[in-house]
Amino acid sequence: MKKALSAAAAALALAVAATACGGGGEGAQSGGDDPIVLGFSQVGAESGWRTANTESIKQAAKEAGIELKFSDAQQQQQNQIQAIRSFIQQNVDVIAFSPVVESGWDTVLLEAKAAGIPVVLTDRAVETDQKDVYETFLGSDFVEEGRKAGRWLVEEYADTDDQVNIVELQGTTGSAPANDRKEGFAEIIGEHDKFEVVASQSGDFTRSGGQEVMQAFLSSHDDIDVLYAHNDDMALGAIESIEAAGLEPGEDITIISIDGIKDAFRAMADGKINLVVECNPLIGPQLMDLVEKVHAGEEVKPRITVEEGVFTQDEAAEALPDRKY
Ligand code: AHR
Repeated sequence: MKKALSAAAAALALAVAATACGGGGEGAQSGGDDPIVLGFSQVGAESGWRTANTESIKQAAKEAGIELKFSDAQQQQQNQIQAIRSFIQQNVDVIAFSPVVESGWDTVLLEAKAAGIPVVLTDRAVETDQKDVYETFLGSDFVEEGRKAGRWLVEEYADTDDQVNIVELQGTTGSAPANDRKEGFAEIIGEHDKFEVVASQSGDFTRSGGQEVMQAFLSSHDDIDVLYAHNDDMALGAIESIEAAGLEPGEDITIISIDGIKDAFRAMADGKINLVVECNPLIGPQLMDLVEKVHAGEEVKPRITVEEGVFTQDEAAEALPDRKY
């Protein structure tokens, strides 16, 4: 069994090395000191947000002269665990990852700790009782994002006493953004009896997931007032189903989503999404800065939060030309 595992780990090590961004040292500092080697395990390529995040990380590593070994987990925790083990085996200088789900990381984090390799969490958090298994967590405050969505909705429906029926498209089950965005939104709307979440289901943060689940919501509920989508891709997929059902998105159904990708801004400018809560994926430069610091043994804050805004339809058209992702 042990033998089989180490053979699998060796094969994965080769695969990760083969997909390493700039394999053989692209992005490495020319001459002088050896570059820092960073093993990075990305969640996948499920959304426009994720694509922008991957680009930002690859670009920032290149600019910082950090050798990046990049691995795409295709939304599978097991793939991330294998990639991290492979990074440990290759004795990289620093490991960073964006955990697909919150729980189940203790063993592999302890393995990295035992190997003396510092770990940086980015974008998503983990749940752990273990001490000192990662140096810092750089990412958005997802609970606050959910609260922002809820606060806008409360304002928007301030003048009605009628019941407001909400359907919720959740992100990947068990992921930090799905858990936290649900929690923050529920906290705010829970202060008012008229808001009712009549259906809530995962669309896995993908466009096709949003489209399929919204279609199911529409066939079982004929009185939907609001769609709260945990990301833009699911909202955009849902818009297809709303239009196919002969309804006007943004008019017949109020739509709130999270991320702020260009496609969502276009949909807002067209009146199809009513509010976007921003979640900034362009955190590559901040991540590289932290990687350099932890590699140098410098102290870093345990939690670094990304600053983000909220955009209404009026603001979307104006902001669209300057939107970076
Ligand atoms: O973890 C960030 C979330 O993951 C983004 O909001 C979503 O689009 C992505 O898939």
